[in-house]
Parts: sequence; C-alpha cells; structure tokens
Amino acid sequence: MNKKKIIITGGAGFIGSHVIRRFVNQYPDYQIVNLDALTYAGNLENLEDVESKENYKFIKADIRDAELIESIFETEQPDAVIHLAAESHVDRSIKDPLAFVQTNVIGTVNLLNAAKKTWKSDYSKYRFYHVSTDEVYGALGETGFFTEETAYNPHSPYSASKASSDHFVRAYHDTYGMDTVVSNCSNNYGANHFPEKLIPLSINNIKNNKSIPIYGKGLNVRDWLWVEDHARAIDVIFHNAKTGTTYNIGGHNEWTNIDLIKLLCKIMDKKLDREPGTSEKLITYVEDRAGHDLRYAIDPNKLQNELGWKPSLQFEEGLEKTVDWYLANEKWLNNVTSGNYQQYYELQYKDK
Ligand code: NAD
Ligand code: DAU
Repeated sequence: MNKKKIIITGGAGFIGSHVIRRFVNQYPDYQIVNLDALTYAGNLENLEDVESKENYKFIKADIRDAELIESIFETEQPDAVIHLAAESHVDRSIKDPLAFVQTNVIGTVNLLNAAKKTWKSDYSKYRFYHVSTDEVYGALGETGFFTEETAYNPHSPYSASKASSDHFVRAYHDTYGMDTVVSNCSNNYGANHFPEKLIPLSINNIKNNKSIPIYGKGLNVRDWLWVEDHARAIDVIFHNAKTGTTYNIGGHNEWTNIDLIKLLCKIMDKKLDREPGTSEKLITYVEDRAGHDLRYAIDPNKLQNELGWKPSLQFEEGLEKTVDWYLANEKWLNNVTSGNYQQYYELQYKDK
C-alpha cells in the first residue's frame, strides 16, 4: 500500500483524539496530520501517548481561515481528510449560533475547496470523510429508529449547522465527483470527554459533591456508544465504504437521562466508598434545554451487515471504565476544569 497522508481535523478533541490514536497505532505506514485550532475543546494532553510517534504531526490551524487551509493542503499534499473539527455542544449553539455556522459550515466548505484544489479533480486516489451526528435527523417519538434514508429535520443551531455541512459534502460528490463519505453517529462516551457534556459533567460534579443538573424531567432518550467503538467504525468505513455513501453508527443502547444518571450515581458511590444513595441526592431538576429533542436512536444495520462492524462493549461495563478513567486521571480533569490546559478556556467554560 502506498504511504497515505491523512489530515485528521479536530484531533485534539474528544472523538478526534481517539481516532488519531487508533490510526497512528494501527497504521504505522500512514502519516497522520492532526489539524486543530485548539479552541476551548481542544486539548493536546489527550494525545500525550502519541505525540512523539514518527508518523504523527500536529498543525495548529483554524478551518475558518480559507487561505491558511489552502496553503496547508498545498504543502502537505494529503491523500485523504477525516473531518471531525466542529463546535460540538448544543447548549453553546443556542447561545451563539453564528460560531457554529462559521466553523461547522464555512470551515467544512473551506476544507472541501482546499481538497478540490489540491486533488485537481483526479479523485480516484483521494477521499474526504466527514464525521457527523444523528442529530441531523431531528427527534424520534417513543418508537422507531434513524436509518440512512431518514429525512433531515434538524432542530438546534448545532444540528442545523451539521446538516448543512453534510449537504455540502454530498454536493461536492454529486457536483464535482469528489470521493466523499459521511457517517452519522449517536452520543459518544468515554475517556477525554469534555466536562460540559452530561456524563463527564456529572462525574465531575458527583466527585466534588456538587448538584447534577438534569434538564426538564430527565426523560429524554439518548443512544450511547463507547468512543473507541466509534473510532473503530470510522476506520472500517474510511477503508471500505463506496464513494458517495453514508453510514449510521450506533449500538442499540438507549437510556433516559435520569436512568443513566441513576446508574452513574450507583457506580460513583461504589468507587468513592460512599453509602449507597449518596450521589443520587445530588440530582437537581433544572430548566429544560430550549428545543430539547425527545429521543435519538440509530438503526446500525447497514454498517453491521455491509461492513461487519458491531459495538464491543456493554454500556454498564463502558460506563464503569469511564468512571475509572476520570478518577485515575485527576490531573487531566483538574487541568481542564481549572483552565490550566489553555488560557482560552477561561473565557469559554466559565459561562456554563
Ligand atoms: P469536541 O468539541 O470534543 O472537539 C472538537 C475539536 O475541534 C476540538 O479539538 C477543537 O479544538 C476543534 N475545532 C473546533 N473549531 C475548530 C476550528 N474552527 N478549526 C479547527 N479546529 C477546530 O468534539 P467531539 O465531541 O470530539 O466531536 C467531534 C466530531 O464528531 C464533531 O464533528 C461532532 O459533530 C461529531 N459527533 C460528535 C458526537 C459526540 O457524541 N460527541 C457524536 C456524533 C458526532
Ligand atoms: O447525538 C450525538 C450528539 O451527542 C453529538 O452530535 C453532540 O456533539 C454531542 O454533544 C451530543 O449531544 P447531546 O446534546 O445529546 O449531549 P449532551 O451531553 O449535551 O446532553 C445529553 C443529554 O443530557 C441531553 O438530553 C441533554 C441532557 N443534559 C445535558 C447536560 C449538559 C442534562 O440533562 N443536563 C446537562 O447538564
């Protein structure tokens, strides 16, 4: 196989860091370039174990800067892009939708343009893989699943921006013939998850005896997937999907928020040697998220049947492993919550 140079965007973030680690370790013949702006969500501490590997390099760059991105592509001459860089948090998108348009929509188009210019319409050797979310499909009622055929119906500014970026990627396939692939995944959990999201926020709050904010009645349903299973799915799809295709990624693992948090509280009581029931007392119902989608649930049959991927971990086991990781990595958590990992964080996290 020819040496492949892959630009992975957003590699300093939660999922991106797991994808980088997987590709750097599994494919020593590939050159992996992590392109990331290091916003509040980017943390190079996530990649300490791979930063000195010969087939890895980091470039600090903002995908909103079209000229810069074009010049990086010209210099690096990548064979492929795996695009994860994004503003990813729904609550932030409600406060500042434009930031989501700028990074998720315009940033994606800047990458597509740079790839188009560098690859000079000879797309047979190149691939643009766009990582997206199940939120583009909108919300389900109590039954049914999102398939690859489900019509897009995004509700939040975040999901609207991701839907738009998905459409642009497909448009570059349909209009210019670019080799593109899109995957839409359900909620991820695991190590290095930024503690603004439900699971790591709750672990951190329970550890510090702070209240656990549950939006509305806690009855919204999310479909949770171990982040390393997502990284493995991206690997399988990147290498095997036909051009222009889409795959949904999920593991049939639906939980209401309140049931999930009660399970987490039980695990935390055990790990912290607290009386059973101690952590549950921290649960506090707060004002609901505006436009809060009721339920997400992925039908992963296409991915399982065509490419043979299936999730490796049961949720209870994965959640316990996640708690163990956060308790063992106090330095990581303290650096993030104190803002020591980067100054920019001060400005961004404190308004949560
Ligand atoms: P994250 O917020 O943890 O990380 C995002 C990364 O992108 C950070 O390293 C950040 O520095 C970088 N970034 C942000 N803006 C940038 C810009 N303008 N230029 C360059 N880099 C920039 O996000 P995540 O949860 O790891 O999600 C990664 C991708 O996967 C996103 O595209 C997201 O929509 C998608 N996704 C996430 C989930 C989930 O459960 N977290 C599920 C499905 C899909
Ligand atoms: O479905 C995939 C999506 O999952 C990704 O595309 C997003 O990038 C990712 O952030 C995630 O979005 P959610 O909004 O589902 O994740 P979050 O952790 O913010 O919230 C999970 C559920 O918990 C949701 O129903 C809102 C609720 N919640 C969240 C927070 C932060 C609470 O009840 N309290 C909270 O404090």
